[in-house]
Amino acid sequence: MPEIDVSEKEKQFYVDIPAKNEPFFLKGSNNLDWGMKNRLSKIFNPKSGKTVMLAIDHGYFQGPTTGLERVDVTILPLLEHCDTLMLTRGIMRSIIPPTFAKGIVLRASGGPSVLNELSNEQIAIDIDEAIRLNVAAMAVQVFIGGTFETQSVHNMTRLVDLGNRYGIPVLGVTAVGKDMGRDAKYMRLASRIIAELGVSYVKTYYVPEDFDTVVASCPVPIVIAGGKKLSELDALTMAYNAIQDGAAGVDMGRNIFQSDAPVAMIKALRKVVHDGEKPKSAYDFFLTEKNKAQ
Ligand code: 5RP
Repeated sequence: MPEIDVSEKEKQFYVDIPAKNEPFFLKGSNNLDWGMKNRLSKIFNPKSGKTVMLAIDHGYFQGPTTGLERVDVTILPLLEHCDTLMLTRGIMRSIIPPTFAKGIVLRASGGPSVLNELSNEQIAIDIDEAIRLNVAAMAVQVFIGGTFETQSVHNMTRLVDLGNRYGIPVLGVTAVGKDMGRDAKYMRLASRIIAELGVSYVKTYYVPEDFDTVVASCPVPIVIAGGKKLSELDALTMAYNAIQDGAAGVDMGRNIFQSDAPVAMIKALRKVVHDGEKPKSAYDFFLTEKNKAQ
């Protein structure tokens, strides 16, 4: 039996204050369920609406990638500076401390190695496992124009169905193969197809020309991949331009963990993504942080 409410204080119903009914902060996400929105809030910072995702899942098809040979040594010091971590369940269980309380984006597709046709992926995880690992989202590679295009699209739609059942968002990754385009026309096509088929957000590559049209024609948030290692100034400039064009953040790997000063780099990147800091000023900050650490 609950105790009877015997307080002598007068009840307050605040009848003159309308109930709050604020829209969710992410583009195209207002009609999602509570659990889905809660998980997305572990990926995107509700204040800035942006994210710095640290991508370290490269080993799922290319083995011990440069900078990721020893995740325990090189990546653990970066965790306090990212908003979200994108990785495989193998690295998660073996190396990442369960006290890591930020969002995890779990690599959920895989199959072929770099020695084979990369688009021949399948779903590489059971939904029960994603729930058990308490992930914030599942990531699937989609090869628009690739040899196994339809199979990869079906991987995505199956994961979207499973994710919707349990409130777990799906990140659709536009995979750009060797012979596929890297211009706004291709990115618009791939991102829009991925969004139309139900993902919560899309990861794509930044293209210098007309990237704002890629963002505008995609109904859900877009984050950019970093791609191959650039100079720190160039990588910060790319992130800045993407944010100015409407991207909701970065999902960056090599340009962080292959930097000479990865902690300084991710801290500088945060300034660009969350505070809109200009590339040159973020780069000066990078140099100062790098020198402090030496
Ligand atoms: C692998 C991925 C990677 O997570 C992605 O490419 C991000 O890493 P990088 O910034 O090094 O490109 O999706 O397919």
